[in-house]
Amino acid sequence: MEKDIDRILIPHEALAARIREMAGEIATAYNSAEAQITIVTILSGAVIFLADLIRQMPMKMKIGLITVSSYAGATTASRGAKLMKDLNVDVRDRDVLIVDDIFDTGGTLRLVQGLLRERQPRSLKTAVLLRKPAKNPPDVKVDFVGFDIEDHFVVGYGLDYNDHYRNFPDIAVLKPEVYA
Ligand code: IMP
Ligand code: MG
Repeated sequence: MEKDIDRILIPHEALAARIREMAGEIATAYNSAEAQITIVTILSGAVIFLADLIRQMPMKMKIGLITVSSYAGATTASRGAKLMKDLNVDVRDRDVLIVDDIFDTGGTLRLVQGLLRERQPRSLKTAVLLRKPAKNPPDVKVDFVGFDIEDHFVVGYGLDYNDHYRNFPDIAVLKPEVYA
């Protein structure tokens, strides 16, 4: 795995520090005593972010999982998002927080936000660890962002290339020959 990494973009210490801050921002946005929070985690990329984020959020919550596939192994332009497995919890009248790894072309979040809105949550917000502003469309909104990054394909900390490198602890860029 190490030999395929070109450079580290965000080391794990910086991820941990920012995620602690984000958890504070999210807790402040909700009235913790009143909130009926349901986290909707977009699999598989968001799992490591989710695990670290929610352990810094001292509030009662339910955790739901939804599987959306977008890249299907490619590194460039999204081929559109497709629902692979629907959510396993009810979101009606709940304060729903979508948690995803990265906001790029917005196809994934457009799909999930639309699907959840139809189910009448009490509120709907979105948190992403990374955002690539270069391709973000104007119609998709996110409420909490960990880091803005340049338009590079990145792996690690849950993000994959061909389903590999999710367990790499830092956000990293692969060597060009790996994609060849
Ligand atoms: P979008 O639908 O184009 O916004 O992309 C969102 C999804 O594509 C994310 O949930 C990721 O799974 C995947 N994705 C986008 N950019 C990257 C990247 O740089 N590395 C790994 N996965 C990515
Ligand atoms: Mg994803």
